[in-house]
Amino acid sequence: MEMTQLIALVKELKQERRVTILAHNYQEGPIQEVADFVGDSLKLAQFAGTVESPTILFCGVHFMAETAAMLCPNKKVLVPDLAAGCSLADMVIPQQVRAWKEKHPDGAAVCYINTSAAVKAECDYCCTSSNGEIVIEAIPPEKEILFVPDYYLGSYLKQKTGREIQLWKGYCPAHAVIDPGQIEHLREAHPDAEFLMHPECGCLTKQMDLADQILSTDGMTQYVKHSSSKSFIIATENGILYRMRKENPDKVFIPASEHAGCHHMQRNTLEKVYRSLVTGEFQVTVDPAVAERALVPIRRMMEISRPAPIQPVPIEEWADWVLAAANDFR
Ligand code: 13P
Repeated sequence: MEMTQLIALVKELKQERRVTILAHNYQEGPIQEVADFVGDSLKLAQFAGTVESPTILFCGVHFMAETAAMLCPNKKVLVPDLAAGCSLADMVIPQQVRAWKEKHPDGAAVCYINTSAAVKAECDYCCTSSNGEIVIEAIPPEKEILFVPDYYLGSYLKQKTGREIQLWKGYCPAHAVIDPGQIEHLREAHPDAEFLMHPECGCLTKQMDLADQILSTDGMTQYVKHSSSKSFIIATENGILYRMRKENPDKVFIPASEHAGCHHMQRNTLEKVYRSLVTGEFQVTVDPAVAERALVPIRRMMEISRPAPIQPVPIEEWADWVLAAANDFR
């Protein structure tokens, strides 16, 4: 079936079955086209809480769907592929956080949203790449802080807030492949381009001073829209380039690495989205006892975060554009 036909079919089916489709900024173009909302981890969590339909089909990775399931206990949360996990989230387990808390009973364990619900249940605060700074600043100054699992985001927050933070040695493999040498080369080749970097980038510690902006995925999509620059070097997972190019057809986006792809995010395809709508699979649930505890750091984060404006995906059709981009993604 042609991609445009499948897009039309999915749009029809989601209405008929009363399913809201949420997609992370890293999802492939065709999935972004059928989504009711596309955003970063924080905005997706905020948006999930406002959904009215009985079912959410979450196109992202497992921890994101878990967060939506916890925030919307009366809704069915589906994912297109249960194996779409997060290598970074897998780098810390609940027992490790519990052991730290036993040694530091007055300390604050802060988890990045890229963690399982079971890890969140052991933590005091949660944060995303867009609100880490204000979350850390909200922690009473006398408290020792552990940050799990991303070493680079943790280092960045340590530097930005000046707080003493114990760092975990986790990392995101998709961001780890972004090579500082390649960035230097790209900056020389494109002297007018602004260089935007996600705080999960492994080269952050070496390149922080060189980045023009360090931003979450939504921070990047908003920034490029409003900047007067015409070209940008983007250091994050390359799925984001679809949205950037679609929303800014007059601007040029250069990936910092052609290899910065998350194989978990890429497990989701429009065909699998269609299959989920037809079969009602695969449901993500969280043990209510775990959810009750995990919601404490999540709600704390949401209270601390300044409300972010939610922008629905425009409903215009970009059929030709979608086809071209879909081919690029395959
Ligand atoms: P954002 O919150 O910036 O979208 O990041 C999520 C993520 O998983 C990055 O790898």
